[in-house]
Amino acid sequence: MTRAHVPVLAGELIDLTEPAPGDTVVDATFGAGGHARLMAERIGAAGTLICIDRDQAARERYAELAADVSCQTRFLRMDYAAALEQLVGEELEADLILLDLGLSSMQVDTRERGFSYSADAPLDMRMDQGQELDARAIVNGWEERRITQLLRRFGEEPNARIIAREITRRRERAPIETTGELVRAIEAALPAAVRRRFGGGSPAKRTFQAIRIAVNAELEALDRALPAAWRVLAPGGRFAAISFHSLEDRRVKRFLAERARGCICPPDLPVCACGHEPEAELLTRRSVVPTPGEAADNPRCRSARLRVARRVGGGAS
Ligand SMILES: C[S@@+](CC[C@H](N)C(=O)[O-])C[C@H]1O[C@@H](n2cnc3c(N)ncnc32)[C@H](O)[C@@H]1O
Repeated sequence: MTRAHVPVLAGELIDLTEPAPGDTVVDATFGAGGHARLMAERIGAAGTLICIDRDQAARERYAELAADVSCQTRFLRMDYAAALEQLVGEELEADLILLDLGLSSMQVDTRERGFSYSADAPLDMRMDQGQELDARAIVNGWEERRITQLLRRFGEEPNARIIAREITRRRERAPIETTGELVRAIEAALPAAVRRRFGGGSPAKRTFQAIRIAVNAELEALDRALPAAWRVLAPGGRFAAISFHSLEDRRVKRFLAERARGCICPPDLPVCACGHEPEAELLTRRSVVPTPGEAADNPRCRSARLRVARRVGGGAS
């Protein structure tokens, strides 16, 4: 069953980014449009909302939202990095940009998309249904060593080597076609004592995360999107990112910290000679996390972290 997607940290996002009447807002990860709707209400009829998502299902949700809200709207069905680069080319000046990373509940709960390790479905995991690379191609086509590295890097999976070995052993007999077959391969790879440590959780979680990140080139997209988003922001504009694992959060944190730095002189110089001015004011010194109440109501938000910064100074970066 597809549950409604509940926008994560929504109150905190609105309080920190303060969308105002007439603002131009870019929701770079439209999903089911939960955050977009809240921002549209604040910017009103004089505002503009640009929505981006590479998933066809998101475009269908966008059509419903566009019919309901009073602001000007536009949808770009594209990778958000490419879309933000396009907006740089259009010389758009945005007052607010949101990146709410990861998957929507719509995607996780639509069994045939193959994102979930709790439902049996074809091994797909593509956010963009038109893309060629899918999870089946990685699981059945990549060399064992490459799968090991993938599980280590993107899943931080301590049992990467034995899982990759079991995957390659099984696929020599017959291709691994479904999420259920992949889960069984992971479970068979792990010694019983390791499996028991997961209690009610799934030992497949890290492997699924890693494969999904690779299928959708998620970290490459984020690395390209951050500088493009910054260039699209008007002076005074707010940038917000919600991430769901440390690989994403680390990138956002580092990017914003670099922009918030003033003097970049060597530490042994007695007086500043660089004249470098900060481009960002951090509106969240530490990341904002869901309250225990939100986490209890929406367990999927438990790992979410919100960071917000304001663009200061007028110079292009
Ligand atoms: C967590 S959901 C966003 C949910 C949304 N904020 C809401 O309230 O409904 C993330 C969305 O971003 C999209 N997405 C992720 N990476 C993307 C990329 N590189 N380019 C475009 N869309 C992307 C996914 O398809 C998904 O719909």
